[in-house]
Amino acid sequence: MAKVTFTGIGIQNLGPYRERQFIDLRVRAGRPIVLIKALNGSGKTTLLTCLQVALYGSKALGNTKNTEYEQLIRSLHRDDATGPARIELSLSIEADGEREDLTLSREWVLGSKLVEHLQVERGGTPDLQLCNEWDEFLDGILPAELVQLFLFDGEKIEALANPKTLPDMLRRATEAFLGIGGIDTLSKDLVAVERRVVLDAKKMGNDYEQAKQEYEALERQQAAAVAAVEILAQKQGGAKVKAIKAKEKYAEESAKAQRSGLAAYEKATEIRATEQQAREQVASAAASVREALADPYSPLAGLGDLWSKYKQRWGDEQDTRASRLMLTEIGRRDCRILQDIGEKVSDKARTVFEQALRADSERYQKAAGRKLVLCDAPDPESVELLINAADARYRAAQTDLANAKARLAELERQVAAIPAGEQLADILSELEHHAGNQSRAESELESVQRQLAEQESTCTHLTARTNAARQRMSKDFQGQAMDMKAIAAAQRTRSVLNLFKDRLLASKANWLSDKITEEFRSLMRKKLLISAVKVDPDTYEVSIISGKGKDLPMERLSAGERQLLAIAVLSALIRERKGYFPVVVDTPLARMDRSHREALIRRFFSKVSHQVMVLSTDEEVEGSVFEEMARHTSAAYFIEYSDATRCSSVGPLNVPKAT
Ligand SMILES: Nc1ncnc2c1ncn2[C@@H]1O[C@H](COP(=O)(O)OP(=O)(O)OP(=O)(O)O)[C@@H](O)[C@H]1O
Ligand SMILES: [Mg+2]
Repeated sequence: MAKVTFTGIGIQNLGPYRERQFIDLRVRAGRPIVLIKALNGSGKTTLLTCLQVALYGSKALGNTKNTEYEQLIRSLHRDDATGPARIELSLSIEADGEREDLTLSREWVLGSKLVEHLQVERGGTPDLQLCNEWDEFLDGILPAELVQLFLFDGEKIEALANPKTLPDMLRRATEAFLGIGGIDTLSKDLVAVERRVVLDAKKMGNDYEQAKQEYEALERQQAAAVAAVEILAQKQGGAKVKAIKAKEKYAEESAKAQRSGLAAYEKATEIRATEQQAREQVASAAASVREALADPYSPLAGLGDLWSKYKQRWGDEQDTRASRLMLTEIGRRDCRILQDIGEKVSDKARTVFEQALRADSERYQKAAGRKLVLCDAPDPESVELLINAADARYRAAQTDLANAKARLAELERQVAAIPAGEQLADILSELEHHAGNQSRAESELESVQRQLAEQESTCTHLTARTNAARQRMSKDFQGQAMDMKAIAAAQRTRSVLNLFKDRLLASKANWLSDKITEEFRSLMRKKLLISAVKVDPDTYEVSIISGKGKDLPMERLSAGERQLLAIAVLSALIRERKGYFPVVVDTPLARMDRSHREALIRRFFSKVSHQVMVLSTDEEVEGSVFEEMARHTSAAYFIEYSDATRCSSVGPLNVPKAT
């Protein structure tokens, strides 16, 4: 454990101190006391406060509000200050055989808001890191809540010996000394961890329950969807069979109905209209035939050989006419020629010539001799074209007529096949019935197929959701069991810690009982007044057992005895840290008589720590008491207040030589 020694303190512009007052606080081995004497109102309590404030700042006042601290500093701050209010505390810290010299300084700037500047110097050089960590650093050596036990006001100490407040103070101090705060912190941390885990687990539990319920609901929905799909699939099979049967039945009935002239009946109007058209077409075709026949050339087409013979005869007669013309002309020409040649040629030649001409004319005689019977008529070749055209028209009209007649005949047959409505009534209603059946079966099949498709899609969706929920659950909640174990372990640890704390406090209570008894008995002049001081292990209530073994109510003690009891309690408490932290006591002896003062010096101041600052009035420490004190004193100072300057100054005090 680090050993702290104050080596000096400088104060300026605070309380009665204006100009910087410096007190060298170094002590020599075996002489732990630094005595500071001062009259009332000279600055002893201010010095104690400055020491507390220099070390702990606002934490020096305990867990009070910052405003109280601010108020304290503002009230101490001198109005006539020429510079900042400032405290410098030099201290040495020894740990692990090494010594470090630190100087702590706090300075305040008063404004609308108090600003405090803390500086920590290590070996004369500012150490920012240590400055930032100062509170934690110092708490590691002496927790702030214990500072009042080490740096205490003797006038207030008596209040400690109050049976109502003492148990609480003792317990808190013991807990702080033992570091039970660490156990509490650990317990609180565990509670926080537990709470978080419990909350998480609870939340997770709730989440799990919710997720489980959701998952189960999904599973149920999925199972229902699967069952519905199965039912609908079966229903679809049945509906398909039913639809096919209904269709077949309708087809069968429909064929039967067709055979019964249904088609004709259904198309009766159309058929009749078509028959009428066909009849009109026959009439029209017949008219065309008649028209074709009305053509004068048309009958000639039917002459056959007769037309050929006519054509031959017409040609021959043309030849006869030509031959007759030729003979006439030739005869005239022959006469002329014979007249011309007359006597010019011999008779013989003439005869020969006449015979030749006659012979030549005879070639035309046969044709010319034919009898003409035909009337004058145009060339049969040209007529023949007209005949052929008329014949073609006639034949086409005939064909059209035949076709129209054939179509009419067919339609007449169809019309004849159209059944009467009454004949078909039964068949129609039967067919209608089957058509209805088929349509119902088909729409039922369609509906089932639609439902099935919907249900299958729902099923696929639900299956996907159920799988996802299952995966999520196994992923999210696999740590739950672990968390439950952690909670149980934390709870066990907490109960063990509480047990440990109780036992520790109980054992410390017993130890304290012994130590307080020892201290109290050694300080008390009346050795037989008390036999023991008991600290209850559970309640930490302090009871005093009289010399006769009876309870001695604390109130029965005198004020001085109560002050001694309080010092005994403090002494017992700080014995733990004895030699590790300075003790400063402000005006502890005021109420004591000489023997108690000497006892205190001998038994308490000289032993309680390696450095003990005693702040006393002039009368507390004088004569034999001063002498007794001097044996253990390294340095002594006197604080003197001057009315003229309205401030105090510190000067050395001669210490009587030890006798
Ligand atoms: N801001 C201030 N400016 C000037 N003087 C102040 C200021 N604050 C306190 N004082 C003076 O400082 C003195 C207080 O000193 P302190 O209480 O330390 O004396 P003390 O030595 O403890 O006295 P006692 O023996 O009576 O306990 C008072 O006289 C007070 O008037
Ligand atoms: Mg005082």
